[in-house]
Amino acid sequence: MTARRRLVRVPASSANLGPGYDAMAAAVSLQLEVEVEEAGEFSLDPGGLEVSTGRDNLVVRAFESLHPADRIAFRLRSEIPLARGLGSSAAAIVAGLCAADHLFELALSKEELLARATAIEGHPDNVAAAIHGGFVVCAAGGPEPFAARFDPPEGLEGIVVIPAEEVSTRRAREAIPAELPLDDAVANVSAAALLVLGLRSADLDLVARGLGDRIHQPRRRHLYPRSMEIVEGARELGALGATISGAGPTVLVWTTWQDAGAVAAALSERCSGWAEVRRLPFSPLGADVPEL
Ligand code: HSE
Repeated sequence: MTARRRLVRVPASSANLGPGYDAMAAAVSLQLEVEVEEAGEFSLDPGGLEVSTGRDNLVVRAFESLHPADRIAFRLRSEIPLARGLGSSAAAIVAGLCAADHLFELALSKEELLARATAIEGHPDNVAAAIHGGFVVCAAGGPEPFAARFDPPEGLEGIVVIPAEEVSTRRAREAIPAELPLDDAVANVSAAALLVLGLRSADLDLVARGLGDRIHQPRRRHLYPRSMEIVEGARELGALGATISGAGPTVLVWTTWQDAGAVAAALSERCSGWAEVRRLPFSPLGADVPEL
């Protein structure tokens, strides 16, 4: 009998998108690939990543929440930088779940995948974008998490500024108090609504108006002060605006495709020696298990 083998591809993601703390995210065109094979014993090839090669690896933990990995060989390849706010942990969780789902023909629905991935990650935004691709709006308050998805609009481009330093998501989440001033909540509700309207109607002026945040970025500023300078200066460089990607420190700079080259060049000059700047298209594609 030939050993069963599956390849899973999962995109990186940028969460929050300014006003949508824990509620909005977009998939972006960097990928984690995980290959699993029934090899007779457990092994994990991290593909050069600095991650655990044991059963505590996040891909394996997610896999084992569905099926034991005693006989499974895992091979990882990733373009997603770790602990920079680009959804590397969400991609790992979704990859592990999809790998077990497809290897053992469990036929999980996307809703079941989202519920399981959210339970492991602790919030739904990055995992929803990793599963569905495109832009997602999530709700985690009910009995099951929910995500609505839509395609990236024409003419919008992303550029990411990826600093060398890492930010711990746990520390970043501890910086947000359980209660917030009403003014801040109202400002974010308005901005999030404008942002979704702008994205759905490809009205990039509305998108620019919808990128403001008064909930997480100001309260985490001490964790990524230089990133916040980029967020605040992005419009002067010709961008529509900028948002901290997830828990940071990566900055997602939003631009029209016409301006993307000039904005990327200006950012590269400004961030030289501190951060990597790369154009990163929004991705309509979510997790995928291609035929081998
Ligand atoms: N919404 C999350 C946060 C994303 O900002 O903490 C990080 O994983």
